[in-house]
Amino acid sequence: MNTCVRQAYTPSGQLCDEALGLALDHLRQGHPVALPSETVYGLAADATSEVATARIFECKERPRFDPLIVHLSTATPLEEVALVPKEDRERVIALIEQFWPGPLTILLPKAPCIPDLVTSGSSLVALRSPAEPVFQAVLAEFGKPLAAPSANRFGRVSPTDAAAVVAELGGRIPLVLDGGCTRIGLESTIVALTRTGLSILRPGPITAEMLATFCVEERGAQSLTAKTPGSMASHYAPATPLRVFKKVTPDVVKPYERVGVIYWGLKPSLEGPYVVAVPWSLDAKEPLVNAASRLFGLIRALDSARLDLIAVEEVPREGMGVAIMDRIERAAARR
Ligand code: TXA
Ligand code: MG
Repeated sequence: MNTCVRQAYTPSGQLCDEALGLALDHLRQGHPVALPSETVYGLAADATSEVATARIFECKERPRFDPLIVHLSTATPLEEVALVPKEDRERVIALIEQFWPGPLTILLPKAPCIPDLVTSGSSLVALRSPAEPVFQAVLAEFGKPLAAPSANRFGRVSPTDAAAVVAELGGRIPLVLDGGCTRIGLESTIVALTRTGLSILRPGPITAEMLATFCVEERGAQSLTAKTPGSMASHYAPATPLRVFKKVTPDVVKPYERVGVIYWGLKPSLEGPYVVAVPWSLDAKEPLVNAASRLFGLIRALDSARLDLIAVEEVPREGMGVAIMDRIERAAARR
């Protein structure tokens, strides 16, 4: 299959109707299309169609035990896709008012229009309304929710630009809508409602601090179903071995010939023609937010540089740093 890449925005920054129209044609025919969200690129298909969503699993080589997030237009009433228990309604509305459209995914009891395939048989569906205008425009025109996992092959690094989508899924999907680099660069926070509060199943851009008024409970290791990759140790894995260090010193790199270092703070003084050192962040004011947006691109670039090791320095585990360290530690876990 030929994978076509189309600019989603015109040079003056308007949505490109022609490209969006093409995406809608494919979606209406039940074919998955890759498109940008504010977090990472997603591979979208009609969330109410078992045939269309089965194609997502196929293209990604994703096992069917790993459920898909369903994306909603801001105009879609929640009741269309979720059966929210009366006692939870107030909290859910407050969450949505505060964080949608945006990078917060909420697990709620699913409505019958969502096929079991989408939730891998669970009675709960993961829902979010993305903030990226391209995604919202496609949702609004399509008129139905779109299931969309990250647009990478199963177990690999999430794509944050159109070229990365093509590297992952080129030849398998008909179209990539190119909206440039994604703004946040890290997947949405996933939360589940507990009896009185919230449990964070996957840390992300909406941090525990931002959710504090909703009473965040300690994250249980078994909170995501044990089989889902959100809870699997090894995920986001580059082909090159990746290890995490508090600080990268000459001792650490000595046993290797070709090392790529992602450093936090001061550049480590390391010798050798084969040592590539890149900073986590280029922004002194928002270092963790900037590091998050560079995370997957840096790993992808170093992974293609034929290195023996990617050595990564820890970032502070606060705010966005919690999600960065979550992804890095999963990337470090060998399959
Ligand atoms: O930012 C994001 O969330 C991106 C963009 C495209 O929206 N999507 C994304 O999807 O990261 P994906 O499939 O790569 O990761 C979704 C995670 C998976 O670990 C999956 O197991 C979990 O969410 N998940 C989805 N539905 C679930 C459900 N019903 N119950 C439990 N976990 C669920
Ligand atoms: Mg993913």
